[in-house]
Amino acid sequence: MSRPTSQHHFLQSALTESVEHNRALPAEFYTSEALHQLELTKFFGVGWVCLGRTDEVQSVGDYFTASLLGEPVIVVRSGADQIEVLANVCRHRGMPVAEGRGNTKKFRCSYHAWTYDLDGRLRNAPMMNKPVPAVISADNAVAARALSDCRLPSIRSYCWGGFIFASLSAAETVANPETAKENCEGKQHVLADAAVDLKALQRDVGAYHMEEMALIGCFEETWDCNWKSLVENFMDAYHLSVVHPKTLRPLTPTNLCQKLSSGKHHTSYIANYTEAAPARDNHHPELTAEQCRQSRLFCIYPSLVASVSADTLAFFMLQPNGLDKVSVKWGLASFEQHLTEDQKQARIDKWRAINEEDHAILQRLQTGLRSSYYQGGVMAPEQFEGCVGDFHRALVTALLQ
Ligand code: FES
Ligand SMILES: [Fe+2]
Repeated sequence: MSRPTSQHHFLQSALTESVEHNRALPAEFYTSEALHQLELTKFFGVGWVCLGRTDEVQSVGDYFTASLLGEPVIVVRSGADQIEVLANVCRHRGMPVAEGRGNTKKFRCSYHAWTYDLDGRLRNAPMMNKPVPAVISADNAVAARALSDCRLPSIRSYCWGGFIFASLSAAETVANPETAKENCEGKQHVLADAAVDLKALQRDVGAYHMEEMALIGCFEETWDCNWKSLVENFMDAYHLSVVHPKTLRPLTPTNLCQKLSSGKHHTSYIANYTEAAPARDNHHPELTAEQCRQSRLFCIYPSLVASVSADTLAFFMLQPNGLDKVSVKWGLASFEQHLTEDQKQARIDKWRAINEEDHAILQRLQTGLRSSYYQGGVMAPEQFEGCVGDFHRALVTALLQ
């Protein structure tokens, strides 16, 4: 795609400001439709977008439907060790073949009853395999051939830490991220690089064993802010004590935060607990005593932010919904497998309160970001806003590709 030189210059200068002067992004990132479209193409369109947790589809046949950057998709467990992401578009005349979530043995289109196996293969197309008059037998042979290898398009997907990621990047599935790098070209590099980058994050959060944490609640919402504001806010230790004086400051005040690893596709920080904070008893045995007194917050670009502690994982999967709105699927998982309903509700209520504080701030922030007086200011030292700077640099670098 050819790009106006002025936009290229603008992005280069935004990158320079971010790298050399540690400044927040210019207003255009929050107001320009052209930049927003570029983000969708260059950051979301080629990256791994997080759609859900693996235990949302725990048993064979469990599925849920979702939107992947506007594309209707089905996430389904097609085998004990296999999760598929399929286009939710009937190969006959385009009807979505599944709705909501549930468990099924097959997907049956509600329009003309074509049915598909859990891996997307067409199982039956009523009345289309019957003998037909000789006069149209040639057409019928063509149709039979077309149907024999007909299937719902499979979208490349990848699981890590109990999260399910998918990418619209138009290439074959990366079956093995360990070896994907050598096999990939062009856009696929982004996906392979991301898988490799996750190894660094794995070293920092692997001991928490998120993949063993059980889902205790999951909610879909629309937040009234630019998608970047949500990422920035989640990865910003600087606001913790100010915006969350009752919910988070007693546990993880800003002054105890530390920067953690970052790479082309992720950034992370540690929120250490105060001495008064209660110990967390239920945790994976690999965790050190120090790790039990920390929450580790990370972002896997472009769409996942999460906070993991010894006993709880809180996650936000996000997709832009225009310049001023972001679709959010947030939820909690717990290392304790047998929480009572009251205990689950208490954790959900706690996080809902934190989210309400953040959402209120981000709604108001939009007004300032749209003002002609807004300028990206100097950001706080690395342990407080370093992750925000990491995110900005990764984003602008991707837009310049
Ligand atoms: S559109 Fe699905 S069977 Fe016709
Ligand atoms: Fe917050």
